[in-house]
Amino acid sequence: MPQGLVTAAYIGAIILFILALGGLSHPETSRRGNAYGITGMAIAVVATVLGPQVNVIGIIIVCMLIGGTIGFILALKVQMTQMPELVAILHSLVGVAAVLVGFVNFMDPNAALHFTDSEKFIHDIETYVGVLIGAITFSGSVIAFGKLSAKISGKPVLLPARHWLNLGLLIASIWLCFEFVNQAETGGGLIPLLIMTAIALAFGVHMVMAIGGADMPVVISMLNSYSGWAAAATGFMLSNDLLIVTGALVGSSGAILSYIMCRAMNRHFLSVIAGGFGTESAGTAGTTSDEGEVFPIEYEEVAQLLLAAKEVMIIPGYGMAVAQAQHAVRELTDALRSKSVNVRFGIHPVAGRMPGHMNVLLAEARVPYDIVFEMDEINEDFPDVDVSIVLGANDIVNPSAQDDPHSPIAGMPVLECWKGKTTIVMKRSMASGYAGVQNPLFFKENTRMFFGDAKDSLEKVLKEIAK
Ligand code: TAP
Repeated sequence: MPQGLVTAAYIGAIILFILALGGLSHPETSRRGNAYGITGMAIAVVATVLGPQVNVIGIIIVCMLIGGTIGFILALKVQMTQMPELVAILHSLVGVAAVLVGFVNFMDPNAALHFTDSEKFIHDIETYVGVLIGAITFSGSVIAFGKLSAKISGKPVLLPARHWLNLGLLIASIWLCFEFVNQAETGGGLIPLLIMTAIALAFGVHMVMAIGGADMPVVISMLNSYSGWAAAATGFMLSNDLLIVTGALVGSSGAILSYIMCRAMNRHFLSVIAGGFGTESAGTAGTTSDEGEVFPIEYEEVAQLLLAAKEVMIIPGYGMAVAQAQHAVRELTDALRSKSVNVRFGIHPVAGRMPGHMNVLLAEARVPYDIVFEMDEINEDFPDVDVSIVLGANDIVNPSAQDDPHSPIAGMPVLECWKGKTTIVMKRSMASGYAGVQNPLFFKENTRMFFGDAKDSLEKVLKEIAK
């Protein structure tokens, strides 16, 4: 394929990627957005493989078949609840690709032949920065994968003088950059590049290990952003415009998402990155709540309460995803709406384990979009709500975020369901949520605990309502 055609295909792919991002910003247009993204990626891959830069098509096709098969099997096998950890490990692949491309590019004797002095200087900086971002993305994403899949404890690991340690690593990286660029002029530079890679890998591990459970959403979107910048850096190293633009799109949208997550959790980005934010009192978590009596409830009474209600608010959380209760909750919604009960859903920005987790599940179960509201849109309506159903949620409805300044989730906005008439909490036990914090909501006078698997519980209520 001639270079002109490749460039035209790249421009088409870039437009499709931008349309994809636009489409993915709303559930109603997300399928279309996805289709744009898939088409853009197919065009990009075909144009690159058939382009003039590639002269070993056979090897590339074999590698694509192996990678494609692994991806296909993973996509078939992965449970919806494992999606966040899959995304984390996929980010790590972008990171490792940037590191490998950086090293190969650096060691290729032909790579820099056509560069002038200043071009060579810029190329060396691109290589250094690409390897740096790639290595941080790789090790940080592997640790995030470990934390999300519970292979590594979610508790922050806070080394003594960790901020000084981070500062030291940063200064060492800057000094090594000077060494690398100087030595690269005379054909050397491998040693500083290797040392910096080790430092960046250690920094990625240290950064994510120090982050507390409740702040993981920010880390996921931040690693998403890093993976984009790593791809953009790879694009610079390979002089591939499409990779630069696509990487910048992913990098900047991930950065915007991190900002939205920080705002949703009332955190400062830098404090999250510095790690350990809000964990000073983590040792007291679980003991600060006003533990007391809990009031269990059975399905017959839940059905009566719901049938007597005019306003019902459903607050789904991670437990809905675990129980795969989204279809049952849609059936309950239909049943109540047919009896003139106004049912709405309140979605917290960090409910579940990945951005938009609850929206995806509700859309899959075909819950109408116009009854699904963001936290900010409905939080003031709770005093008028007759029954709130907390469906497998915990941290996102924890009043200690507002009442206990020492709580690890202090300051995080939460859905204020306790301000309604009655709250029914559907979960299996009194266990805490992802942040490991006791929830005083469970002990409030107007809260009823409906113990059991969320899907089984909903099905029992549905049967009772249908009687
Ligand atoms: P969590 O606070 O994790 O609480 C989920 C609750 O669901 C648990 O307390 C659990 O209690 C219950 N549960 C689990 N399986 C269940 C089942 N089969 N049936 C019924 N209940 C079940 O979830 P949340 O309220 O959605 O809050 C999200 C948390 O995850 C926040 O701390 C957030 O910071 C963090 N996080 C979010 C993200 C993103 S981007 N959304 C990413 C990483 C971390 P039982 O065991 O007693 O049933």
